[in-house]
Amino acid sequence: MSLKSEVLQKLKEEKEYLSGQQLCESLGVSRTAVWKAIGRLKEEGYQIEAVTNRGYRLLTPEEEQDLFNQEEISSRLHTAWAGQNLYFKEETGSTNDDVFGLAQTGAPQGTLVVAVRQTAGKGRRGRTWLSPLDGNAYFSILLRPSYPAETAPMVTPVAAMAVYAALQEVVGEQNCRFGIKWPNDIVVSSGDSPWKKICGILTEMHLEESEIRDVIIGIGLNVNMTEFAPEIRQTGTSVRLACGHTVNRASLVAAVWNHFEGLYEQFTMARTLAPLREKYEEALVNKDRPVRVLDPAAPYEGTAMGVNDSGELLVQPADGSGLRAVSAGEVSVRGVEGYV
Ligand code: BTN
Repeated sequence: MSLKSEVLQKLKEEKEYLSGQQLCESLGVSRTAVWKAIGRLKEEGYQIEAVTNRGYRLLTPEEEQDLFNQEEISSRLHTAWAGQNLYFKEETGSTNDDVFGLAQTGAPQGTLVVAVRQTAGKGRRGRTWLSPLDGNAYFSILLRPSYPAETAPMVTPVAAMAVYAALQEVVGEQNCRFGIKWPNDIVVSSGDSPWKKICGILTEMHLEESEIRDVIIGIGLNVNMTEFAPEIRQTGTSVRLACGHTVNRASLVAAVWNHFEGLYEQFTMARTLAPLREKYEEALVNKDRPVRVLDPAAPYEGTAMGVNDSGELLVQPADGSGLRAVSAGEVSVRGVEGYV
């Protein structure tokens, strides 16, 4: 057997990293000979990861389909500014906090932090966002807008539209369908299964006097995750579980920002969602469906009719009273039977 085949066999046998030293010793050859054999295997198309102080590892076919690093993302970006200043982290506390830190040091609009795992992921309404190392993408972008603070909340549905468009482009809708649950959760359904959440968006705004200093959009996207706690499995899933195949995270993250730039420009010109409203409503899974409005003062049921130019949900109450506009910051909306 050639040295190249022997190295390949050792890498296949070992699930973890094999150091150059271990390979030399077990095969009785020099480090240079091992290094050359690895080089030839790579030329033949084997995906071999080399990590300093750990060694070599043969990627599984699924990992090959989902190479996720700075280069894989930036080579797919076709943007003028979104993601052009890119930081990629294997682990962090919260990418929103990372972007906030960078904003303090004068980072430009479009600065993007992407992480493979978060240890202190933040969700909306003060909740935590579970962010395990399990094939997901956690990422946040910095905006430095000149519009007034009241306009900023509308940026979240714009980001939701970008995620929705990215999923349609990269994954397609052969085995599953995507949608937006008002105001900005991305949901998926396959076959007759109920809509489940695959993505959440947390937008944070910082003011100076009453002017916006920065807006940070954070996106948590369950891409290839397979392990879900039973309580989450009822309402949450991943793209892979719903659509049945591994999805390349780098393509998805890049596509989000490729779509976002154009959508955001339309929004900033209008300073309302008017130019995007029709498109948003096409993706809105609540439209024409019964909803329960969890208004803390007086919860009620009705039918979701669509959104207005500010992104408020228009609900026709079941008691026949007049159409109401529901604001995302104030109340939650659920489906009458399930999550949607
Ligand atoms: C939600 O509650 O639906 C919003 C979840 C937002 C999670 C993302 S993950 C990347 C970014 N960093 C955070 O700490 N949160 C957001």
